[in-house]
Amino acid sequence: MKPELFTKDTTAIVYGYQTNAIQRMLDFDYACGRKAPSVAAIVDPGRDGVHKVFFGKGEILLPIYRTLEAAAAKHPKADVVINFASFRSSFASSMEALNHPNIRTVAVIAEGIPERRARVLAATAKKLDKMVIGPATVGGIKAGCFKIGNTAGTYENIVDCKLFRPGSVGFVSKSGGLSSECYNIIARNADGLYEGIAIGGDAYPGSTLLEHILRYEAIPAVKMIVALGEIGGTEELRIVEALKAGKIKKPLVIWVTGTCSTMFPAGVQFGHAGAKAGSALETAQAKNAALKEAGAIVPDSFDDYGVLIKKTYEGLVKKGAIKPAPEVTAPVLPMDFAQAMKEGKIRKATTFISTISNEKKEELEYCNIPISKVLESGMGIGGVIGLLWFKRELPDYGRKFLETALMLTADHGPAVSGAHNAIVAARAGKDIISCLASGILTIGPRFGGAIDGAAQSFKGAFDKGLTPAQFVKEMKAKGKNIPGIGHKVKSITNPDMRVTQLKAFCKKNFKNTELLSYALEVEQITSSKKGNLILNVDGCIGICFVDMLASTGSFTKEEIANIVEMGCLNALFVVGRSIGIFGHVFDQKRLKQPLYRTPYDEIAYMTDL
Ligand code: ACO
Ligand code: LMR
Repeated sequence: MKPELFTKDTTAIVYGYQTNAIQRMLDFDYACGRKAPSVAAIVDPGRDGVHKVFFGKGEILLPIYRTLEAAAAKHPKADVVINFASFRSSFASSMEALNHPNIRTVAVIAEGIPERRARVLAATAKKLDKMVIGPATVGGIKAGCFKIGNTAGTYENIVDCKLFRPGSVGFVSKSGGLSSECYNIIARNADGLYEGIAIGGDAYPGSTLLEHILRYEAIPAVKMIVALGEIGGTEELRIVEALKAGKIKKPLVIWVTGTCSTMFPAGVQFGHAGAKAGSALETAQAKNAALKEAGAIVPDSFDDYGVLIKKTYEGLVKKGAIKPAPEVTAPVLPMDFAQAMKEGKIRKATTFISTISNEKKEELEYCNIPISKVLESGMGIGGVIGLLWFKRELPDYGRKFLETALMLTADHGPAVSGAHNAIVAARAGKDIISCLASGILTIGPRFGGAIDGAAQSFKGAFDKGLTPAQFVKEMKAKGKNIPGIGHKVKSITNPDMRVTQLKAFCKKNFKNTELLSYALEVEQITSSKKGNLILNVDGCIGICFVDMLASTGSFTKEEIANIVEMGCLNALFVVGRSIGIFGHVFDQKRLKQPLYRTPYDEIAYMTDL
């Protein structure tokens, strides 16, 4: 096993879809000035495809594979696997990684791996001359080169601890959490970390404190070694033996945590699985004493850890063993937009405005009325239209008027243009939305789309003070059909009962039907010329709608004019007629009607015109 595990070109395969850890690795890469990301690929048995992730100021795509085999085959240079698999599957996937020829180092993040399996992992790593970091670890970091997963936390911490460029200190501990703290202590008391490894707190780690210390001993760029042991186990006594055997020549500053255990009556179990003294030899006091006696630099307490690191470092500088490099600054990492917004550091102009509904609250609200209240109020679909279209709570007669309009326009048989087109589309095998569209797209100035035109032209004439006769004459002179007047099949002698019903409702319930009265005078004139020039259903709805708004007293003349000018009333016909169009479509599909083709006797072929 070569002493260096990582370089500035190291790339890893991340096992497990750990998007935050991956982003932190790539942000570290950016801080170090790496030109290529340190994550080559992601393995997730439950997905494949790509994962979009920031790399510096830009975004890149990382491939996702379902198997480690596939990932390693596509990315042969990746020699590290960071295994985020849970304790249930971590052993198998870690063994697969260890046994893959491309892989040299496996970081096993999971806690709770059974000791027997942990020992198999360690033994396999030894046999294959490979490195396992963990289990139960956050990983490790080589300053300025490569970071395992979430090691050293946020970008700010990376910068504060100067981890974006190499220092002279090789560090190893059991604890990931304390490692971060120690990186900070090393940055403040020396020239920073060269590499830091957290071997994890299990009783049988994949690699030991001593193995990493001996690696640092063999790396020339490491000038001093700092370590943090822990109560329990005899690992630190291996270090004592190595010191006595002269295998560790570089200054070693080390502290074994857990000295407070003597304050507890019985043997106390600290956080890590291995952190309990099984005998007097395994106590923190005993191990610190043995290390000091063997020549390690051991503080009297953790409080002096940084003091001795500083003293050792300064001693090495003084004798020229360390030549402090000029300080460099890390690039500023652009803050994630979402994070910056969350912290109120930036603001973004919105691109949409909505004043009618809000689904972001505890419950959906229409015009600030919770949907539960909308339902409880019994306002019905007419009330909902009032809220969402006109932002008003309409009076009962207003709501009923809208509902009546929807019911009257729902259908007018299969012969009308809209129904015809929808039926033809259904018989052509189209989906119901396409059938609806083919029917709805027929609505226009002559069919179903004259509601707005009727409201606008009759209100316009009325407001201008034109008599009905003057209005009819003016439209004739313009060569324009009066919107809302005329029907293909209904007439004075064959009245449209829909119109009859609606007129009666409005006269009975509206305080004001002046525009309707005006329209009926117009109808008298037009129908006297031709019986089918009656006030049709479009005209009746549009004209009565204006009277309804005026009757409520809650709309100013300007608001009524704006609503009429906006041209929203044809929407009533669209909503209503959609019901009937769907009806015809379902009817045709139920009947399994074949493709329609217009019969020849319906067509006049006059190609010589
Ligand atoms: N105003 C004035 N004159 C009219 C009107 C009208 N709205 N509609 C028809 N006429 C006249 C025509 O100018 C024509 O006169 P002419 O014989 O002197 O040339 C005559 O009546 C026949 O006109 P056509 O368009 O052939 O009559 P048709 O019965 O086909 O028209 C239609 C029916 C399309 C509805 C027509 O009356 C019209 O365009 N109305 C205005 C738009 C409208 O209200 N559409 C909604 C209809 S209801 C519904 O779709 C739910
Ligand atoms: C309708 O409501 O579709 C009709 O008024 C139009 C028509 O031609 O019957």
